[in-house]
Order: sequence, then structure tokens, then C-alpha cells
Amino acid sequence: MFAVYAESFHPEDPLRGLVVGERPAPVAPEGWTTVTVRAASLNHHDLWTLRGVGIKQERLPMILGCDAAGLDEDGNEVIVHAVISDPDWDGDETLDPRRSLLTEVHQGTFAEQVVVPRRNVVAKPAGLSFVEAACLPTAWLTAYRMLFTQGGLKAGDTVLVQGAGGGVATALVVLARAAGLRVVATSRDEAKLARALELGAHEAYPSGTRLPAKVDAVMETVGRATWEHSIRSLRPGGKLVISGATSGPRLDDALLPQIFFKQMSVIGSTMGNRAELGSLVTMLDATGARPLVDRELPMERAREAFEAMAAGDLFGKIVLTR
Ligand SMILES: NC(=O)c1ccc[n+]([C@@H]2O[C@H](COP(=O)([O-])OP(=O)(O)OC[C@H]3O[C@@H](n4cnc5c(N)ncnc54)[C@H](OP(=O)(O)O)[C@@H]3O)[C@@H](O)[C@H]2O)c1
Repeated sequence: MFAVYAESFHPEDPLRGLVVGERPAPVAPEGWTTVTVRAASLNHHDLWTLRGVGIKQERLPMILGCDAAGLDEDGNEVIVHAVISDPDWDGDETLDPRRSLLTEVHQGTFAEQVVVPRRNVVAKPAGLSFVEAACLPTAWLTAYRMLFTQGGLKAGDTVLVQGAGGGVATALVVLARAAGLRVVATSRDEAKLARALELGAHEAYPSGTRLPAKVDAVMETVGRATWEHSIRSLRPGGKLVISGATSGPRLDDALLPQIFFKQMSVIGSTMGNRAELGSLVTMLDATGARPLVDRELPMERAREAFEAMAAGDLFGKIVLTR
């Protein structure tokens, strides 16, 4: 079948190992189901995979893509939940030490078909298009858990979102605004600041700018480049929720004294569970908020999509369609 996959890892030049070609069609094991993919969105995770981060050499070749919306074996419209937990695990699947994300162990969604455990498909509401639904399982679910589960944020709180142009970051801005928070965003790019304001941010500043007032919480996915600014922008007792480190994991100065003297919390967050995916879908249905799609491309043009993401030339999600 048609598939977009990683053939080899190249930490400095990730697109070298990307192949748009053919792979054997998957066979669903007992308890799993086959989903025919209609739309699948690109995540920074796919670039990490091409760099060899979070995946072992012996898993290659690996079909890329964590997210999908499509049709199940009975023709129902479904969304694929990307966190695969151990069959015996019955708690929050993001806490299962044996969990994996699609493309880490099991083949991904940039293909005609993907197989997943039956409990990993949730119904797609008619009000969401396949393209919109394909944005949810990774970036939007991550944003939902960061804000509402790990951050415990509620209407009236103020949140800072770093790196406003990204897939997770645009989701954070839209969801926070829809939930009645005051939203402050930063970006390296002036045009992206203007777009963040259109999207729902109340204030937007160039990355690193001293904010006029401290915030209740910061949502971090950028890492090294914004960490100091995140700590300096938090009020005493505030929460920094981190789910990614796009600009690098090592810090020059973690500002540890600020963290303990001001009694801040630093909270890790990863993906979300099936129940949170259900709540996210309900929230979108109830508020009318929708994922921001930067561009839609046929899956055959996946290389263009990866080039745009590698260059940071995006605002919102890039979705590949079939
Ligand atoms: N833990 C999880 O479950 C989970 C889930 C999803 C994503 N993630 C991680 O979260 C990160 C973001 O993912 P994504 O898919 O949203 O990526 P993306 O769409 O490629 O966005 C990357 C973002 O990083 C910002 N950025 C990059 N380099 C920067 C720098 N040097 N200085 C300031 N900002 C910089 C960009 O903001 P501007 O261009 O606006 O400045 C952009 O918002 C990735 O590292 C990903 O692996 C983790």
C-alpha cells in the first residue's frame, strides 16, 4: 500500500531518511482493528523520529504519522487515539510504563491503512471534518491535558503560551481562549504574533520580552530557548507545564533559586488519555472552537509538509489527506 515512512535516521538532516513509497498492508492482530485513513496530521514528533529520537534502529522501516481520522471496518467515522498501552493496563494510559505512541513501536498513520487496538478508536462527531479531527490525537490532546489536567487552569486565570506558531501552541491558544482564560502568547516571528492575536490571544510579544504582569501558568513546548523567560514570567506559586523541548533539552541556567523561593511547580505532561480525547471532542462540539489548519496537502506531497515543519514555516497544523 501507499505509505510515507522513515528508512534511516539522520540527526542533522532528518529528511534524508524520508521515503514516499510503498509498504506492505498491515494485518490487524486479535483485538485490533483496521482504519482506512482519510486525513493524518504532521507533528514535530515525526521529525524527531527521522532523527532517531524515541525509536530503536531495529524498528525501521517505520511508517510515520501519529494522528489519523478515517473509517473503521464497518464504515464508521473515527478518530485514532495514538497512545498504545499494554493490553493489561487499565489506568490512565499515559502513565503506563509500557505505553508507546504510534510510530515508536507500531506502524503509523501516513498510509492507506493503520491498525490499532479496538479501544484506540473514538467516534468522530459529524460536526468535525476528517481534516479537523486528524489534528486532535497528538497536538490538541496534549494541549488539553497541559491546560486542564496538569495545569488545573480555569476561567479567569492567565496563561502564557510560548512559541505561538506551533501545532501544540495554536491548540493551547484556542483551547485556553475557549475556556475563558486570559491568553498571552510569544513568537519569534512578527507575522505569527499578529496571527496569534487573531486566533484568540489577548496579548502577543516577541520571544523573550519582559511581560507587563506575571502569569498564573506557562505552557512550554520550546524548551531551552524560552525556559528562562518562562520562569521569570511566572507569579509566585505559579505552574510551568512542559510537554516538549523543540529548541533543545539542555539549559544554560534552570533558575533553580527562583523556582524554590517563589514556590513554583514544574509539571511534565505527555499526550493525554482516551477519556481526555473524548472531553476534547465534546469541548470542540460545545464551544464551536476548531483546530487551526495551516495547510492541507495530499499525502503524496508529504516531503513538502516535512520541509515546512523543519523550517518552522507553519502556523497551526499541516494535514495530509487521502
Ligand atoms: N509530550 C508530548 O506528548 C508531546 C506532544 C506533542 C508535542 N510534543 C513536543 O512539543 C514540541 C512542539 O510540537 P509541535 O508539533 O507543536 O511542533 P511545531 O508545530 O513544529 O512547533 C514548534 C514550535 O517551536 C517554536 N520554536 C522552535 N524553535 C524555537 C526557538 N529557537 N525559539 C523560540 N521558539 C521556537 C515555534 O514557535 P514560533 O515559530 O512561533 O516562534 C513553534 O511554535 C515538540 O518538541 C514535540 O516533540 C510533545
